[in-house]
Amino acid sequence: MVSDFIAVAERAARDAGEILNTMLPETQLVKEVAFKRNPTDLVTRADREAEEIIVRTLRSAFTSHGILGEEGSRHAGDDYQWYIDPLDGTTNFAHGLPLFAVSIGLALRGEMIAGVVYHPPSEEMFVAERGGGAFLRQNGSELALKVSAVATVADGVVATGLPYDIRETGRNSAQIAALTRVAQEVRILGAAALHLAYVAAGRLECFWEPGLNPWDVAAGSLLVEEAGGRVSDMRGGAFHVEVSDVLATNGRVHEEMLLLLATA
Ligand code: IPD
Ligand code: CA
Ligand code: CA
Repeated sequence: MVSDFIAVAERAARDAGEILNTMLPETQLVKEVAFKRNPTDLVTRADREAEEIIVRTLRSAFTSHGILGEEGSRHAGDDYQWYIDPLDGTTNFAHGLPLFAVSIGLALRGEMIAGVVYHPPSEEMFVAERGGGAFLRQNGSELALKVSAVATVADGVVATGLPYDIRETGRNSAQIAALTRVAQEVRILGAAALHLAYVAAGRLECFWEPGLNPWDVAAGSLLVEEAGGRVSDMRGGAFHVEVSDVLATNGRVHEEMLLLLATA
């Protein structure tokens, strides 16, 4: 069954994805690449245009819902709250790397209930609804998502991100170094939402990153949970959408990851 929430979010994500795919091969000048907080924190014209179309679509379908978008969209609403990252992985996008996603999540009174993460270059659409499972839709077919069965970090591929202030703070460097000595491989793909979708799909065993925002994790966290995985903060505390230091795993490596992160 597909709820209206998912159907509309999917349509919004596909429309935004078309904008992103079209602009991907353009130069940084055409993309209007600019800095936000510092030279490692980028924004482009595509981020703004994608957010605009998503917000327009959601607002016309769900007039009473609240909206929070990374590029500045703020609409107060009822108990329903949307979290939008119109382009997760802007640095990759600015450089023409096809590793980025559109992330749209819906919370009801603070609990994530629906989410989509869309990878426009492959047209992979990852969708989840609370209690309804997680699925990958592509080329008209649908596949139920399940996290991997890998039981140890040594047998796992673990992914992380580089916080925008890593140059000043060194945040996450010790943890990354520690994991390179334990995990099968460490990956930094540059798109938090995609990392989460890949944990849900069993392609990665784990993703952690400090300093994330609600729009980075809203949809992806639900994908992981609905695919049978576990999401918490980096110390094992309960996850909610405002948690910024996030650990998401296939469940089986969660406790080991908590220990590794704590002792790094
Ligand atoms: C960023 C990406 C990146 C992660 C950063 C995020 P943006 O999102 O997800 O992988 O390391 O923490 O802010 O700025 O490209 O939407
Ligand atoms: Ca993001
Ligand atoms: Ca973004």
